[in-house]
Order: sequence, then structure tokens, then C-alpha cells
Amino acid sequence: MIHGGTTLRGEVEISGAKNAAVAIIPAALMVDGVCVIENMPQISDTEMLLTILRELGARIRFLNRSTVEIDCRNVCMQDAPYDLMRKIRASYYLIGAMLGRFGHAKTTMPGGCNFGVRPIDQHIKGMNALGADVDVKAGFVYADARDGKLHGARIYLDKVSVGATMNIILAATLAQGRTIIENAAREPHIVDLANFLNSMGADIRGAGTDTVKVNGVEKLHGGSYAIIPDQIEAGTYMVAAAATGGEVLIKNVIPRHLECISAKLRETGTIVLENGDTVLVKGASSLRKINVKTLPYPGFPTDMQPPMCALLCVAGGTSVITEGVYDNRFKYVNELRKMGAEIQVDGRVAVVEGGHRLSGAPVMACDLRAGAAMVIAGMCASGTTVVEDVRFIERGYENFVGKLNALGADIHIVDEREESDGRDKILTMIG
Ligand code: EPU
Repeated sequence: MIHGGTTLRGEVEISGAKNAAVAIIPAALMVDGVCVIENMPQISDTEMLLTILRELGARIRFLNRSTVEIDCRNVCMQDAPYDLMRKIRASYYLIGAMLGRFGHAKTTMPGGCNFGVRPIDQHIKGMNALGADVDVKAGFVYADARDGKLHGARIYLDKVSVGATMNIILAATLAQGRTIIENAAREPHIVDLANFLNSMGADIRGAGTDTVKVNGVEKLHGGSYAIIPDQIEAGTYMVAAAATGGEVLIKNVIPRHLECISAKLRETGTIVLENGDTVLVKGASSLRKINVKTLPYPGFPTDMQPPMCALLCVAGGTSVITEGVYDNRFKYVNELRKMGAEIQVDGRVAVVEGGHRLSGAPVMACDLRAGAAMVIAGMCASGTTVVEDVRFIERGYENFVGKLNALGADIHIVDEREESDGRDKILTMIG
């Protein structure tokens, strides 16, 4: 429940990158030793993956809030828990990691946010090229290395895919020989996965470019690694600061990873100042319209599209947002309309008529980033906004409400529980 009309001011610390962590946790499955991973974000996606590893036999221990020790030496091939796997997109990384370690894998088809059809054909193409047979049957993915071991191959991705690039890197790490991935995705979390694996003895070059070369190694050894800061979490606070006309120092970031977001914010009139591992965002008294097109890195990230749309609702003039990655990532626009936003959507293009004062309303968090967009809109709106289904937000933002409230937002988590007889619903304030 958000009481709107607040201006964000102060400092916020960014947590470790979700989309790096969700690949690095499965990667730990291939390590013949103990991994100590720092800057692990406390979000439900990482909690679920750690639970999956634990159920497979891993020993997992938190050394402090954000440092986790993972020991997968005693893991043996068995079915991973179906209910957890189907809830998250990143469970597809277990295919690459299990194939690498055991020569076979059984996982569910991945879950995750619904932006239209999200096939995994490029992952399967990669595994096939490395010598695995992959079968999708009744919601499960079965993968088997034909001769018990994977073999390096040259793989051209027909579509730039973060998940396929990372999954093939995982599978190729312990394969025999050299793998070359062409038309690879270049996101910072791909570099982070490669750096993690290299620090444990892998031989991966070119991550962050469109050609990644993996020389297979016999085994990986234990070690320590710190996950990079989350580009999208940082971008979300940048946009929230700008949208509310506030001034926020965003700490523990890599400004280079934020350039695409900083550049578009500057076009709106927002001041963005980089200094070491911080960025200072100062909102303009009136924001200007901009046009945005989402693209794979280093383009403007699709995951920042919904938060930026919330900002453009309160900017002056007509902005055009073009979604260049997913077929259907504008479903949340209906929720913004309930708050008075004027947005027309035609396929992958949204036209935002800005300059309207938003008013609080009951809305849904349709998915993770759409949920963040609703919270930003709620802070800009007059009156009270209730965002339902915040479990989506908890998938990817550590302590979102706590961090925003520390910056001056007025947000309470409201727990809507059904009584045991299922008839009455009660609203309980819990913070
Ligand atoms: N695609 C295919 N075939 C494939 C794989 C992808 O056609 O085999 C298509 C997708 O349908 C999409 C495009 O290629 O249109 C790009 O998808 P990509 O594989 O890059 O995305 P992903 O791996 O499924 C990850 C993040 C997403 C983020 C995208 C793009 C994880 C777990 N998820 O998804 O994160 O939007 O990359 O950057 O890393 C989020 O954090 O909110 C989120 C949705």
C-alpha cells in the first residue's frame, strides 16, 4: 500500500545481480570443491535455486547476510524438485550444469514472467551441438550426452539470447574440446558467469563480446567470488528518483553497466553524475518526453522498460516506447491506465501521452519489473495505490519496500490472508 506524492532522497545500496546469481548458483553444481559466493542477493529466485541445490544434496551455509558457501561435492544425479523448478525461469541453467557434471539432466520446462512465448529452442540447439539428445515431454526436459560426455562445437545462435549463451557456456565448461558461441549475448551477467567459472579453473574467453570461446577443462576447483551489482535494480532506483523529482545517491554500482539507462534519463532532463562506484541522480523539476527502444546489451534493457514507462507517464509530452526483445511485454499498461495514464499499445510499440497526474488505484504486479513500475507510479500518484501480488517483486528486488522507505517513500506491506474456512479475508498490517 503506497501513499503517493513522496519524493525520494538519500542513499541506497544496490545488491548483487539477480540474473548473474541465478546462473552462478547452478554453476556451483559443477565445482569439485567449496564455493564462497559474496554479494548474493536475498530474493526469492536465489532462495528457490539454493533450495533446489540443497534438495539435490548440496551443503549450503550463509556466512553472513549476503555471503553463501556452497559445497556440491556430494550431490548425485536425482530428480530436482518439480514444484520449485517450474516457478523460475532460471531453472533452465540446471540443464547445462547437470549435463556438464553428470552427462544427463532432467528439469521442468522453465517458468518465469509471462511476456508471450518464451521458447528455449536456442538452448536445445546448443546442447544438441555439444552432443546431447534433448527431449521435451509432459512439461519436462530430458537431456543426455550421447556418449556420456559433451564435446565442444561451433554454435551460431539464431537469436541473441542471454539464457542460451549462459546455458551453453555452462555445458561447454566441462566438455571435451573447444566450443565457440557466435552471435552470443553480451550482458554484464554473462561476463560475471564467465569470471566466476574462470576463477574456479574454467577457460572461457570473449564473454561480453558476440563470440565466446570455451576450452573445456577436466574439473573445476573451489574458490571465492563476488557477484557484480544488479544493473536493473540500480536502474529502477535511478528511474524512481527521477520520476519522483528526488535526489538519490545509488551506491555499489558499475556505472559503465548503467550507461544506457543514464543516457536516456539525461534526455528527460534528469541529472546523472557518475563517481567511482556510485551514481547520483537528481530529478528535474519537469521531465521531458523521450523515445526508447529496448535491445540486447549494450542497448536499453527490456527489464527497464516498465519502470521507464511509469516515469514517462509523468513526463511532459508524447513518448514512444518500442519493445525490441519480447513479443508481449506491455500487459501491465492496463494497470497504469487504472491510475489515469494515457497509453496506446500497438504490438511492440506503446505511445505514452505524458503530463497527466496519476491517481492512486488498486493494481496488479503482473510480473517482476511491471510490479516495480506500479510502485514507482504509486509514489508519483496522488492518494493511495494498492499493488497486489508483490511476490513477483520479491523475486528480483531485495528489500524493495525497506530500501524505498529509507529514501522517504510511504509504503506498507499489507498481507491479505484467507481465514482457514476460506470465507473471510482479513487485511493485516505487517510493516
Ligand atoms: N528466445 C528464443 N529462443 C530461445 C531463447 C530466447 O526465441 O531459445 C527469445 C525470447 O523469446 C526473447 C529473446 O529471445 O524474445 C531474448 O530472450 P533471452 O533468452 O535473452 O531471455 P531469457 O534468458 O529468457 C533473461 C533474463 C530476463 C531478461 C532477458 C533479456 C534471466 C533468468 N532472465 O531471460 O530477466 O528479460 O534475459 O535481457 O536471466 C527479469 O529479470 O525481469 C527478466 C525477465
